Amino acid sequence: MMKKTVKILAIESSCDETSAAIVENGKKVLSNVISSQIDLHKKYGGVVPEIASRAHIENIIPVIEESLSKAKTDWGNIDAIAVTKGPGLMGSLLVGVNTARTLAHLKKKPLIALNHLEGHIYANFEKTPQPRFPLITIIVSGGHTNIVYMKDHLSYKLLGTTIDDAAGEAFDKVAKLLGLGYPGGPIISKLAEKGDSEAYALPRTDLTPPPKIDNRGYLRKSNHSLDFSFSGLKTAVLMETKKNPKILKSKKLQADLSASFQQAVVDILVRNSARAVIMYNPKSFLLSGGVAANKELRAQLKKRIKKINSNITFHVPAHILCTDNAAMIGLAAYRRYQKKDFTDWEILSPNPNLKL
Ligand code: KG4
Ligand code: ZN
Repeated sequence: MMKKTVKILAIESSCDETSAAIVENGKKVLSNVISSQIDLHKKYGGVVPEIASRAHIENIIPVIEESLSKAKTDWGNIDAIAVTKGPGLMGSLLVGVNTARTLAHLKKKPLIALNHLEGHIYANFEKTPQPRFPLITIIVSGGHTNIVYMKDHLSYKLLGTTIDDAAGEAFDKVAKLLGLGYPGGPIISKLAEKGDSEAYALPRTDLTPPPKIDNRGYLRKSNHSLDFSFSGLKTAVLMETKKNPKILKSKKLQADLSASFQQAVVDILVRNSARAVIMYNPKSFLLSGGVAANKELRAQLKKRIKKINSNITFHVPAHILCTDNAAMIGLAAYRRYQKKDFTDWEILSPNPNLKL
């Protein structure tokens, strides 16, 4: 028989946040300690892998101890240890995975390996009402832009992905070329609040192939593509700054360009999400990943999905659960715990390119 209360200690270290959380029954976050390395990486305009691994090593044990004390619990009450196995930076993943393996062995706890992206999705399961299946989720982060269909828990079918940059990466690169700092998403979205989103005409790349003539001579429309491309948009922003270098010195022009860029990203994400919803008619739609923190995206996507079918429930995590954190890993891990999907501590190793 399954225990009534299951407490999972989750560890996340795939990129530049060292995090540990205690999550009860895949719903209740008892603690979620996040040690951000942003200040260490800021001056380089992005994450430096070597610096990230070192910081994880220094932080991981204090962060785990704090997660236990904040949750007012101890090792005796922990039922399993969960950890992100990938995707992410190899050096960063190694710290979390090896810490989890060692603790699982020493404390004699089952070990659960998770995909970072399923963590982002399950951040949506912390709130009520819970998402319903089948569902569609768009995962928008610094490393990924995926549209995924889930017919049930832990079942993932990839419907669309980016062929070049991820949405968050586009925010980060555009912020860098405008000289605004790192990470780009929060900075650009703040600036965009004061800008005119129609000031610059920027491309919304659509990867739908052109119509074809079939063997009877009829023009046949191709199926709409659910894939993404953001590199042309980023180049278009760069071209605007080349055409008018004053942009780099004017807060007003930077705000206009930021707002126009943000609206282009939102339009692309909303367009493909709407296509997926029309094609697959899900019961719920989930917005997941770091870019889900973006206010305009949250509002415009919800409006569009509800317009297609007002019965589809729209979900987005609390702000703190959008960007990288261990609570989301604990939320997903509960579903694997229920299926006794455990991993042997002796053989678990990170996979920087892990697929969903
Ligand atoms: O999920 P996440 O924390 O890390 C990855 O798994 O990649 O996502 C980080 C990304 C960064 O690219 C950051 O610029 C973006 O999320 N981001 C945002 C916002 N907050 C974070 N993008 C747009 N608007 C935001 N408010
Ligand atoms: Zn992430």
